[in-house]
Amino acid sequence: MNAETLETELHRRAAEVHTYLDSWFASLQEERGNAMGRLFESMAYSALGPGKRFRPVLALLAGESLKTPIMKTLPWAAAVEMVHTYSLIHDDLPCMDDDDERRGRPTNHKAFDEATALLAGDALLTEAFGLIGEAYSGLGTTAGKLVSVLAQAAGAQGMVGGQSLDLAAEKAGRVSLEDLERIHELKTGRLIRAAVEGAAIVAEAPAKTVAAFAQYGARLGLAFQIADDILDSAQDGQDGRSYIAHLGLEGTREILASVSEEARVALNEIPHAHPALYALIDWNQNREK
Ligand code: IPE
Ligand code: IPE
Ligand code: MG
Repeated sequence: MNAETLETELHRRAAEVHTYLDSWFASLQEERGNAMGRLFESMAYSALGPGKRFRPVLALLAGESLKTPIMKTLPWAAAVEMVHTYSLIHDDLPCMDDDDERRGRPTNHKAFDEATALLAGDALLTEAFGLIGEAYSGLGTTAGKLVSVLAQAAGAQGMVGGQSLDLAAEKAGRVSLEDLERIHELKTGRLIRAAVEGAAIVAEAPAKTVAAFAQYGARLGLAFQIADDILDSAQDGQDGRSYIAHLGLEGTREILASVSEEARVALNEIPHAHPALYALIDWNQNREK
């Protein structure tokens, strides 16, 4: 699959996610009225903003590989994106990274205020689990599994845990390569992994297939971070918490190649994996932005 086709495939699915989130917000507003106007506005500002929708698009591609109708995977995909969005809002707050810009626009607390941004994040996180409960309660134990996969990916053993380790590493100034990999795995890898793993659970795929998707997501998530390190080093030098600082540019490219290969090997275990899932590994390995 060439880069242009990949981009078209990704865009089409990102638009589906956007439309779904848009109507989810509309129904929330209809249900609960305008009393929470500013909170809803703040949630929508970030959730409907110009993100790449990397995680939900991966979820849709995983679902399609397993012949699941897109409508069945969409609530899961949207829930993962809501959790991702919450994590970004909170990550940008003054007590965390204190950033003024995100996705080329003012961060949520700059566009609104700190307390509203905090609450918008809280609400997005909570509503994501509500959405899973509503959408999948008809699937019996599957709904419980989805809640558990997302909670583990996002919580203390996942993204939040990774953020905490990252704060400690920032204070220390330098981390071991092992710790760096652990931070990436938790901070970004777990949610990317959950996106595809959950899509396979929605499809009620055999355990072996669910595990292969989980492995694919974990390796792709790590590869995504390593590629980021390479790009960052070109832009603003390197810091002690990067692959480049440990391995140099050539060594980092080698690690990127081997982690990417592990993602391909995992995908080979899945019959009829969508070609875009392979193309994403190649795109990430060679990306320039
Ligand atoms: C950015 O994630 C933050 C990390 C978790 C590394 P993305 O690069 O997927 O951000 P958006 O959603 O496209 O803005
Ligand atoms: C934030 O990580 C992403 C989360 C896991 C919440 P970073 O601080 O490394 O990423 P940016 O630079 O804010 O996107
Ligand atoms: Mg940040």
